[in-house]
Amino acid sequence: MIRIVINDKVKKSRIEPEIYGHFSEHLGRCIYEGIYVGEDSDIPNKNGMRTDVVEALKELQVPVLRWPGGCFADEYHWKDGIGPKETRKRMVNTHWGGVVEDNSFGTHEFFELCDQIGCKTYINGNVGSGTVQEMSEWVEYMTFEGVSPMAKLREENGHKDPWKIDYFGVGNENWGCGGNMRPSYYADLYRRYQTYVRVYDPEKPISKICGGANVDDYHWTKTVLDVTHDHTPPQFHGFMNGLSLHYYVHPEGWEIKGSSTDFDEEVWYKTLFKALYMDTLVTRHGAIMDSYDPDKNIGMVVDEWGTWYTCEPGTNPGFLYQQNTVRDALVAGITLNIFNNHSDRVKMANLAQMVNVLQAVILTEGDRMIKTPTYHVMHMYRYHQGADLLETSVSGVETAGPDEWKVPEVTQSVSVDKDGIITVTINNLSTDEAKDIEVVIAGRTADVADARIVTGEMHAHNTFDAPDTVVEEEFSDYRTTDGTIGITLPPCSVVMLRLGK
Ligand code: AHR
Repeated sequence: MIRIVINDKVKKSRIEPEIYGHFSEHLGRCIYEGIYVGEDSDIPNKNGMRTDVVEALKELQVPVLRWPGGCFADEYHWKDGIGPKETRKRMVNTHWGGVVEDNSFGTHEFFELCDQIGCKTYINGNVGSGTVQEMSEWVEYMTFEGVSPMAKLREENGHKDPWKIDYFGVGNENWGCGGNMRPSYYADLYRRYQTYVRVYDPEKPISKICGGANVDDYHWTKTVLDVTHDHTPPQFHGFMNGLSLHYYVHPEGWEIKGSSTDFDEEVWYKTLFKALYMDTLVTRHGAIMDSYDPDKNIGMVVDEWGTWYTCEPGTNPGFLYQQNTVRDALVAGITLNIFNNHSDRVKMANLAQMVNVLQAVILTEGDRMIKTPTYHVMHMYRYHQGADLLETSVSGVETAGPDEWKVPEVTQSVSVDKDGIITVTINNLSTDEAKDIEVVIAGRTADVADARIVTGEMHAHNTFDAPDTVVEEEFSDYRTTDGTIGITLPPCSVVMLRLGK
């Protein structure tokens, strides 16, 4: 019997809402069609943003949105995306699918989108092909309130008031698509570029994110920190608030990747095994960060994570469009539990990507929209946002799956919110076995105030003709005896319990 004992007296770290963040790139049908359809579209919209998508994102409580890339960020020249739409540059998105980018979604549209969703802003600047002047002028354009050339330009383009940038990324994947740099070279560029990401209004600080490692490139993390570290306190002089990390799950490796819907049991376990690797990455990169930043002032920012499969047959391979099954629900549940459990160091994470690309929470086709299993998991987990991680002890967990891809049968995380309500999220990774679990709060009785589940056959997914095959449902397979909660978790499931005071 698996037993989870919760110590609600020991709050370990705050789970920043930003751990539940999202990412939207000018890639495939993420921005265009998926989010932005333009004011003249027949699809209901407000200032060009699809109303159905914005409503769904509001229900999800999206805390922060990263834009404009990804690899696109290091090719993006922001002045192409301001001013009258008819005069904006048209160009080819060489990185993603070779389609025409008409720049009709630019800086003003991004802030409008975040305003409609009600989320924080994370802008990713261009280091790979952009200049310091270009980056510095973009920050001035977005945030300067007084008399200046860029503030004047913003006003001429219809926005007198400055906006707020909550996070600013200084380049993206600069070890690869962002310029193929070596870590010490990038680290020097980081020092230089970030200098000109000026904070004009001390009431509106900008958190600066340094471009971090790909997967297990610990040498990158160490070198970048070494070069940016000044050896005299305060060692980072406030010029780095976050260091990023990117990790994608490719079930069959980078070359083959694997189908999003057609997989066997072994690939199910292989996928979850690879999702669990996030724990190792966060731990090891975190240990390097600890050696430079023991007080954990620099947040680990996992600003790209999720599954990356072979794109759907018949779609543009450069659009990265894929389906999303119960397997993705489990990847989301496992990964978010890992982030919660490492919330002393992980301060933001951004699922790649928000709509129609990779492990999207929303898929669209014309005027139709569906929520994916990943959406429903993120919705159930939203109670963790801003809550405190609680100390728990878990016993009796065995492994499941074939020898090479053995995974724990269950993973979990537990938090308490400001009203004293405890949220427990548990995943059953097994394809065929239900699991009996006892949940106990040490020293007191526990009552279930709400219980929800996302589950289904491992390949189950939503389509435009059957949008509700996998949804968040009420969960009733639990019993309370003498203050102990016994639950039976079906195979392939993600469960959320809310425990009252
Ligand atoms: O999310 C798709 C791409 O993956 C991003 O553009 C890039 O940063 C990463 O390699």
